[in-house]
Amino acid sequence: AVPGIMRDALPFLERTAARYGDVVPFPVRGRPAVLVNGVAGVRRVLQDNHRAYGKGTVQYTSLSLVTGAGLLTTDGEVWRAHRRAAQPAFHRDTLGHVAAESLRAADLVRVEWDTAPGRVVDVDDVVVRATLAVVGRALLGADLVDGGAADGHRLVAAVHEALAVVVRRAQQPWTAPPGLPTPAARRLERARRTLDDACATVLADRRAALAAGPHGRGPGHDVLGLLLAAGLTDGEIRDELVTLVIAGHETVAASLAWTLRLLAEHPEVVARVHAELDTVLDGRRPGWEDVPRLPVVRAVVDEGLRLYPPAWVVTRRALEDDVLDGVAVPAGSLVITSPWVHHRRPDVWPDPERFDVDRWLDRAPGARRDAYIPFGAGPRLCIGRDFALVESVVVLADLLRDRSVAPAGPRPAVVPSVTLRPRGGMHLAARPRR
Ligand code: HEM
Repeated sequence: AVPGIMRDALPFLERTAARYGDVVPFPVRGRPAVLVNGVAGVRRVLQDNHRAYGKGTVQYTSLSLVTGAGLLTTDGEVWRAHRRAAQPAFHRDTLGHVAAESLRAADLVRVEWDTAPGRVVDVDDVVVRATLAVVGRALLGADLVDGGAADGHRLVAAVHEALAVVVRRAQQPWTAPPGLPTPAARRLERARRTLDDACATVLADRRAALAAGPHGRGPGHDVLGLLLAAGLTDGEIRDELVTLVIAGHETVAASLAWTLRLLAEHPEVVARVHAELDTVLDGRRPGWEDVPRLPVVRAVVDEGLRLYPPAWVVTRRALEDDVLDGVAVPAGSLVITSPWVHHRRPDVWPDPERFDVDRWLDRAPGARRDAYIPFGAGPRLCIGRDFALVESVVVLADLLRDRSVAPAGPRPAVVPSVTLRPRGGMHLAARPRR
């Protein structure tokens, strides 16, 4: 039988945590697995004893069919060396550039809304392309959406197709051996080729630019230059590029789509955002230097990520025996942690389903910090965390500056795919501010 976690993952995880507590051992495919829900257990796995856990899980080996051995899926020395090489591309100095590109992303959404007054737009569809454009320009110096390195729609479709195959594969109780020409394998191969072509173009363009001599872009903006300088092979660079493109856009897109929906349901929060934007921006568009001066917008982003953490599950494989909260975890166990479950612990988050930005504004820290893991924790903390936060704050601030959002229909069901997707899209209208 297909285990419950693969059939109906979010309710399964919630039920299991509520019923059995902080550390729940259970078998998956005949092998030991453990669901870790407690704050202390999660901290031990991701941070305090992280060396005892690796990435050899269905989640990451399936993903590596698309990304290859990139930062998200590798372990050990290769991961350490590549992370060190890529890290400067995410330095604080680069965030001004991220903010500038985020304004162009906001324009893409704005244009869709502005084609007709009150027009309902599938915001999810637009932000997926908009966030892809931001990763391309801000991190790779490449135009992934408007022609250039690739046709944006084709690239988005390829990512979507590849991830759909990967998710189905991860959900099946058995998988065809690699290399067998099943229809799914052929679809994956086609999608991979599109991704490979886009990456090859980006890399060739960058090499040509480097050969032409030093110019404008600082190394901080240029992850490709950094990876080339660190001596990565073309294959390794391809894997890191696909990893960054995939990890860096669907997550932010999901976060923006769900957060806009929550705002559409909460005009009283939008009114507070408007008041803040009026005071701080006084009609101008936001820039990177405004981000720390927009605590309400930031609280909206944090609360959106609490309720809809795009990376809803984070898994590890125990490399050695460990004990979590008094429960023995034998080497080889699958260890499952879930930001979705963690962010709904009633002991840490009173009335957990409520969209309440004041959780972030009252500055009561306490246990909350450890129970909030939308970007993971420890040495494998998301490398793009600050990138994503600046992008989200700037896009939301710029969109809401002169308008509010309104829902069209009920809140969509949540589909736990590689990220949390809204079933059927996220249909929202915009209204000019009164
Ligand atoms: C890792 C979430 C945005 C690139 C992670 C992890 C999480 C996460 C939970 C840790 C996975 C684990 O421990 O197994 C998110 C969310 C985002 C976001 C919720 C947006 C709201 C981004 C962006 C980029 C990015 C914008 C790049 C531009 C990566 C990479 C890793 C990672 C490369 C692997 C890091 C490593 O292990 O060294 N992300 N992420 N992410 N993320 Fe993000």
